[in-house]
Amino acid sequence: MSDSFQLKVGVSLEALHREAEESGDLAQLAALLAVASERASQAKVLAPVLPMEFAGRFGMIGKCPAMERLFDMIERVSASKVPVLVHGETGVGKELVAKAIHVQSPRSPKPFLAENCAAITASLLESELFGHVRGAFTDASRDRDGTFVAADGGTVFLDEIGDMPLAMQSKILRVVQDGELRPVGSNKTRKVDVRLVAASHRDLGEMVRTGEFRQDLLYRLNVITLEVPPLRERTGDVRLLSEFYLRKLSTEDGKPLQTLTESALNRFENYPWPGNVRELENELRRATALTSSSEIDVSDLSAALTA
Ligand SMILES: Nc1ncnc2c1ncn2[C@@H]1O[C@H](COP(=O)(O)OP(=O)(O)OP(=O)(O)O)[C@@H](O)[C@H]1O
Ligand SMILES: [Mg+2]
Repeated sequence: MSDSFQLKVGVSLEALHREAEESGDLAQLAALLAVASERASQAKVLAPVLPMEFAGRFGMIGKCPAMERLFDMIERVSASKVPVLVHGETGVGKELVAKAIHVQSPRSPKPFLAENCAAITASLLESELFGHVRGAFTDASRDRDGTFVAADGGTVFLDEIGDMPLAMQSKILRVVQDGELRPVGSNKTRKVDVRLVAASHRDLGEMVRTGEFRQDLLYRLNVITLEVPPLRERTGDVRLLSEFYLRKLSTEDGKPLQTLTESALNRFENYPWPGNVRELENELRRATALTSSSEIDVSDLSAALTA
C-alpha cells in the first residue's frame, strides 16, 4: 500500500470504493482492497490525512490506558445493535467515537447521520428527525422523510441529547423500543431499523432527578455508556496528538513540518485543555499560522498557555 494513501474518518469503505472507481484511481482501489482484507482484524478508519505509520485506532489518536480501554469497548459494542451513550467534556471526540462505532459495525454500508439536538428549535428538530407530511405546517409543501428514515439500516447519532425537550424524548423512546415513528402531521406510523448513539456533556442522571430527562429513556440509552476521558487525563497523548496535528497542518497548508520546542511541549503537557482535542488543534493551527520558523516556541503560544 502506498505511503501517501489516506482514508477519511466517517466515510465507509464502500463510499471510498465508489469514489475511487469513478475517478479511475487504481492506486486507491488497490489500497482499498488491502484495507478491506484487513477489515476483520483491524481498525478500518484512519484519521483525516493521516499517514499510515500514525494510524491510531478507528481514526483516533491515543495510546494511554484509558483510550485503549475505550477503543476495546468500541470494538466490542459495534457488532450489536444496542444503543450507546457517549459521555465526555466538549471537544473530547464524542462524535468520532460515534462514527467509529458505525464504521466498525455491520451497518457501515448504510448511512451514519448526526443531529445536534441543541442547535435548532424543538419543532424544527422534530420534523428533522421524524419527517413530516404535506400540510403539517405552513411551509410543508410536500412529504419529507426525516433523519431516522433516511438512516434506515444505519446509525443515528443524537448529539447533545440532554437538550432534547421531554415531549420529543418519548418519541425517541418509541424508536428505541419498537423501531416505530410517526412523521409530524401524519396519523400513520413507520417502521425503521436504526442503531442509536447519543452523546451529552451533561449529567443525564442528575437531569432525571430534576425532571428534565425521562428515566425510561435514560435506562434504554445507558445500557452501554462510553466515557471519553478529558485530554488532561491522557498521559502521553498530548505529545502524540501534537505531532499528529503538526503533520496534518503542514500537509494541509503545504508548509514544511514544524515541531514544538521542549519548553512549548512542556506547556502543552501541563495545560488543563478545557476545550480538549479541539482546543489543542486550534492552538496548533494558530501557532503554525503565526510562525514560519521550523520550531514553535512558548512565545508563539496563546495567552491561555503562557499565563
Ligand atoms: N483522539 C483523537 N484523535 C484525533 N483527533 C481527535 C481525537 N479526538 C478528537 N479529535 C478531533 O477533535 C475535534 C473534536 O472532536 P469531536 O467533534 O468528535 O468532539 P465532541 O466531543 O463531539 O465535541 P463537542 O462536545 O464540542 O460536540 C474534531 O476535529 C476531531 O476530529
Ligand atoms: Mg460533538
